[in-house]
Amino acid sequence: MKTVLITGCSSGFGLETALFFLDKGWSVIATMRTPREDLFPSNDRLRVLPLDTTNPDSIAAAIDTAGPIDVLVNNAGIGMLSAVEGTDMAQVRAIFETNTLGTIAMTKAVLPTFRQRRSGVIVNVNSSTTMKPLPLFSFYTASKAAIIAFSDCLALEMKEFGVAVKVVIPGQAETRFAENAQARSSDAIPATYTEFADRALASLAAPSASTKIEEVTEAIWRAATDPDSPDHLPAGADAWALANAIPQTSSPKPQTN
Ligand SMILES: NC(=O)c1ccc[n+]([C@@H]2O[C@H](COP(=O)([O-])OP(=O)(O)OC[C@H]3O[C@@H](n4cnc5c(N)ncnc54)[C@H](OP(=O)(O)O)[C@@H]3O)[C@@H](O)[C@H]2O)c1
Repeated sequence: MKTVLITGCSSGFGLETALFFLDKGWSVIATMRTPREDLFPSNDRLRVLPLDTTNPDSIAAAIDTAGPIDVLVNNAGIGMLSAVEGTDMAQVRAIFETNTLGTIAMTKAVLPTFRQRRSGVIVNVNSSTTMKPLPLFSFYTASKAAIIAFSDCLALEMKEFGVAVKVVIPGQAETRFAENAQARSSDAIPATYTEFADRALASLAAPSASTKIEEVTEAIWRAATDPDSPDHLPAGADAWALANAIPQTSSPKPQTN
């Protein structure tokens, strides 16, 4: 039986991905900052472990307790809507700590075992914001774009050792993400920007296409289980529209259906 470890399983994509892999008969290690067994049906293939991806001791303890895993899904992430001018460096560091350095630290924690066993898949949950610049998303997008560059280079490095590195790129989906991001960003849009920010956010509030949570869990599943899947997997109609609009030198392949 294969084992997946997923970060950020308290809600949204992480929670649904854990349930999806359980349904598929996998052994699932659902990690979250504050463990909540009650989010899941009772299942002897499920373990819920504490993990804060910004804390090295927490990472070491979770990896040690988890034991051997086949797939790591780096899903934990935070959003921020902010004007660059209004965002202090502590806020900037916090978003990179979680989205960028947390993902890198988790990846580094599993690499030695994956390399020695010559197998393993790392799936990094990214964002379609990396495919189109948006105002007020500078730090979030930069923190995610860094992981695309990191993943693409690492994929080449680990191919030598039989380890795959994939990026799932969701569009805009209805999870707690926007609400969490707004709470974090409340003081980061100065008054001078309010009118502009209202206009920018109004266009985001009525997207012509969006992403369903199940499209993300299916893309994560494909990345984890299909060795022939592309290194980048958009998830959702809006993400696919952006992916198809940019000239591709490599994956993803244009959608045909
Ligand atoms: N929803 C969207 O529209 C969207 C679109 C594109 C990409 N994404 C990406 O998808 C991923 C999941 O987001 P979501 O939409 O499912 O949002 P969500 O419901 O807010 O879930 C985010 C998860 O990350 C966890 N988390 C935050 N900081 C953490 C840390 N330091 N250590 C461990 N876990 C931490 C949260 O846990 P707590 O409960 O402890 O805060 C929560 O479980 C993120 O990487 C996000 O960037 C989301």
